[in-house]
Amino acid sequence: VLQPRLVIAIDGPSGSGKSSTSRAVASRLGCEYLDTGSMYRALALWCTHRGIASDDPVAVARAARDLPIKVRTDPASFRVELGANDVTEQLHAPEVSGIVSGYAGVLPAREALIVRMRRIIEDCGRIVVEGRDITTVVAPGADVRVLLQADPEQRIHRREAQLDGAADHETVAEQVVGRDAADSATTRFETPADEGVHLIDSTDLTLDEVIDRVVALVPHELVVP
Ligand code: DC
Repeated sequence: VLQPRLVIAIDGPSGSGKSSTSRAVASRLGCEYLDTGSMYRALALWCTHRGIASDDPVAVARAARDLPIKVRTDPASFRVELGANDVTEQLHAPEVSGIVSGYAGVLPAREALIVRMRRIIEDCGRIVVEGRDITTVVAPGADVRVLLQADPEQRIHRREAQLDGAADHETVAEQVVGRDAADSATTRFETPADEGVHLIDSTDLTLDEVIDRVVALVPHELVVP
């Protein structure tokens, strides 16, 4: 049976519940899943291993064009490979989180990765894509566009829970707020959402409630049993 194409774009800052929501929505609707942040993380990892600094835009852009990245878009086990190596776990190490904003801020490198993202979206047909500029730049024509928001205190709290006591409140707060600032300088995801983008504030919602709200936005004929 040929399933209808469906592209769902979900943007939001870290700690907004974006990843958990996007994966669950993809599983529920029989969609593939693409975490675009992981592509910027893979670029940062690749560059640091080769001594390419984020203040060398020419070299970073070249690395982005040549990046031997392969993403597996199964929402139940999203994986990223660089060459022959599965780097999925490494991508979320604090060393990568601490430097990725600098690399994600190199505009010609963004352009190169965005070309790849659009190709993946095209190839998948049914897909949930999460990031910072998916609703506005990468896939403004998506069938459903969502901007997830949450109070900074709540996002810090969730991040702390994820880290399970591995870092104190002050440190986590600095990381969350600091990365917001660095990210917004390059992707402007904090600006008012485009017309047609649905705002969902997850501060006082459970994960299931957020998932339900996103699914409810999908046109009936694009949901398959
Ligand atoms: O969502 P994340 O924390 O994994 O994102 C990693 C970095 O990539 C973060 O600095 C924001 C940046 N990013 C971006 O600039 N554009 C996207 N579409 C996704 C992520």
